[in-house]
Amino acid sequence: MKRSEINNIMKESLAFLQEMNFLLPPFATWTPEEWKRKGLECGEIVESQLGWDITDFGRGDYTKYGLFMFTIRNSTIEELKKENGKIYAEKILIVDEEQITLTHFHYQKMEDIINRGGSDLIIQLWNSTPDEKLATTDVTVSVDGVRTTVKAADTITLTPGESVNLPQRLYHKFWGKRGKGKILVGEVSGVNDDYVDNHFYDEAGRFPKIEEDEPPFYLLYDDYKDYYKHA
Ligand SMILES: [Fe+2]
Repeated sequence: MKRSEINNIMKESLAFLQEMNFLLPPFATWTPEEWKRKGLECGEIVESQLGWDITDFGRGDYTKYGLFMFTIRNSTIEELKKENGKIYAEKILIVDEEQITLTHFHYQKMEDIINRGGSDLIIQLWNSTPDEKLATTDVTVSVDGVRTTVKAADTITLTPGESVNLPQRLYHKFWGKRGKGKILVGEVSGVNDDYVDNHFYDEAGRFPKIEEDEPPFYLLYDDYKDYYKHA
């Protein structure tokens, strides 16, 4: 992706978040210059992969295949081994109409996907086979505490306020309903490491290669290593 495209997505996303009255934490608006001056006290933000995360899944067509994410809280996998570790995470996502997040599952992370307002979110579901193919068996998920069973590759629709629990190794693909605008999507999950936890069924790249055609507006968390001196 071009940096200018990422910058524009950040500006558009900030406008949508404001429209939806969803506020981001202070580090969301630290400039790249500010990041260069930050000290060890900010290490948790970097270690826990908090912040801006925008991907086109390596397809070069963000409108069609893309996802805006901002990780608000998370931790590290090491915390899972501790008796009283921080083992939870929260993200805010923006999904546009017919904008696809490609079929994937998570090895380690269980997640709840929540429609927090705007349009309807459509989620397609499959169980996975032991060799990570799409299973043909019925899929049972919890939709706000209600056990719900669908055929393999069927979709469920989350209207504003609704959520679904997606266990590990359950394949999911999602997009916004046509003609109804953007959706603010919440994600509450176990702690996760996005560099290793995502398994895509389709050909996809999780972190875009960036063409630096202008300076970054704000940093993606994948940029911290180039700006934060303690990374
Ligand atoms: Fe997912």
